[in-house]
Amino acid sequence: MQSKTRSAKFVINNRSIFVVFFQGNFYAYLNECKHLAVELDWEEANFFDNNQEFIVCSTHGALYDPVTGLCVSGPCKSKSLGRLELTEHEEEVEVFYDGN
Ligand code: FES
Repeated sequence: MQSKTRSAKFVINNRSIFVVFFQGNFYAYLNECKHLAVELDWEEANFFDNNQEFIVCSTHGALYDPVTGLCVSGPCKSKSLGRLELTEHEEEVEVFYDGN
């Protein structure tokens, strides 16, 4: 069975970035929890919870909506991940990050 979610992690301008594929669309975020300034992934480039419904912080378990980046549960509830613009070209995704 093929997973309905995918994720990838990379670095732009010395910042860790990740892209997730969720419900047919791509979303890009800074890889930094809004509770503490730590990376989210609980194993390399794996950002989703067991049910593949939320982005989860590996440190204290905050849950983020993959579509909006909003924290819906945990110590940073109501704060949002830093969202990045992206464009899709056929099978490629281009992410834009200006360093801010
Ligand atoms: S560091 Fe992410 S929830 Fe605490």
